[in-house]
Amino acid sequence: MKTPGGMLLTGIELDRASPMPLYRQLYLQVRKQILSGRLAGGTRLPSTRTLCKELGLSRITLLNAFDQLTAEGFLVSRTGAGTYVGDEWEGRAANTGIERQPPRLSSLSQAVHSLRSEHFSGVSYSAWDPDCPTSFLPSHPAYDAFPMAAWKRLMNRHLRKPGKEQLGYGELKGLRRLREAIVDYVLDARGIECTPEQVVITSGAQQAFNLLGMLLLNPGDAVWMEDPGHIAARIAFQALGCRLVPLRIDEQGLDVQQGLRECPEARLAFSTPSRQHPLGTTMSYARRQELIDWAGRSQGWIVEDDCDSEFRYVGRTLPALYALDGGQRVIYVGTFSKVLYPSLRLGYVILPEALVEPFCAIRAVMDRSPSTLHQATTADFMQDGHFLGHIRRMRSLYQARQARLFEALQRELGGFLCVAPAEAGLHMIGWLPEGCDDDALARDLAGQRVYTYALRDYCMHHYLPPGLLLGFAATPEELAGLRAEEFARALRALGWKL
Ligand SMILES: Cc1ncc(COP(=O)(O)O)c(C=O)c1O
Repeated sequence: MKTPGGMLLTGIELDRASPMPLYRQLYLQVRKQILSGRLAGGTRLPSTRTLCKELGLSRITLLNAFDQLTAEGFLVSRTGAGTYVGDEWEGRAANTGIERQPPRLSSLSQAVHSLRSEHFSGVSYSAWDPDCPTSFLPSHPAYDAFPMAAWKRLMNRHLRKPGKEQLGYGELKGLRRLREAIVDYVLDARGIECTPEQVVITSGAQQAFNLLGMLLLNPGDAVWMEDPGHIAARIAFQALGCRLVPLRIDEQGLDVQQGLRECPEARLAFSTPSRQHPLGTTMSYARRQELIDWAGRSQGWIVEDDCDSEFRYVGRTLPALYALDGGQRVIYVGTFSKVLYPSLRLGYVILPEALVEPFCAIRAVMDRSPSTLHQATTADFMQDGHFLGHIRRMRSLYQARQARLFEALQRELGGFLCVAPAEAGLHMIGWLPEGCDDDALARDLAGQRVYTYALRDYCMHHYLPPGLLLGFAATPEELAGLRAEEFARALRALGWKL
């Protein structure tokens, strides 16, 4: 906009406490306004006297800035007519439209972007409102029951003596003490025999999936994926240009025979054998053996995602797939996101020996090791005996929370939802009437502040009835009834007859 009578330099902010001289600050800000098109070519500036008054500057400071802007062609002085923005900057405002065009991105980035918006079209994790009493989102453990006092005490021990171990770059594989604690834990809990050299600490399981994809897969390689299955892992492999082979889940788990029929040459199989995510099935012993046999024969890899095997309420926890195969073709991925808390961002990979160094080489390029302070605190938590006690307490808490919520949902919604209690994990599935669009329902419910995920989001092929994932771990027992009532009220408000 050109104002004949002069134009005040709005938006100029001078920091008098800054070590940068005021004339330099003024010069940089006026130049930025011209370059961005905010001050258009041909614009007449106010008189130096007015500007000095407006900006609280001495005349010499202002002239210093303007002299430099004039020397560089940003401003022109017309005798008797004042100071103008150089005409060649005319049209700069229109050009800024070009600058606002979306940036040119790599194919990988474009793939990730579109895959994420395609897969996460429903209710987003970030839409969850912690103050809302009707959240059934499945990824939340019981934050209210986390032993923060013990955690703080352990962390403070390290904070009191800041040094290299707490504040420096950590070991590339992760803190040795933590790796040793993991070795003891997985032997005891999962029957896995490994050495600390085979364990690499990652920023959660998700980073492990990405690094494993980069380590083992080329564009076009086929990957067996559980259908329905873990969405974030699927995206990680798809973004690398891999071809996904969706395999159905039956009562024994992943249908290995389907994989053998459709794509025996797959390079990798991704599986959640201890609690199929999201359906909750435990993979049978026979299926485990079939899967391991396939990997051995075809020199394929199996990524075993074991994110919450600690929380089993019914039946025996079978040893990990890794234990069965003796660490030949199985790569085990564990996480502290469910047993401790997700923002900790600590997970671990247990690798066959031959993969350790190549994995670490990729890791070194992508990242360093996660926060050493958190690794040290987690190692203490495990070695001082808090970890197993916490898991035991959480297992019985979640079992009780599930029972209460199950009862309440049956009572309030039994005519509409067919809820099956989960044998393991942190969510149940509420099966919906045939023909119901679970995706649309989850979105509508979120509009009523009732948060669930649709089963459809996890599916590549739609062969299952519609359903909702109903997290129970974060719902205190005394609130279960109220939450189920609110859930029912929201459904009625949406026009559903219960
Ligand atoms: C099936 C599955 N695996 C792994 C994870 C853990 O991921 P991370 O360790 O990156 O938090 C999740 C998180 O929700 C999950 O659902």
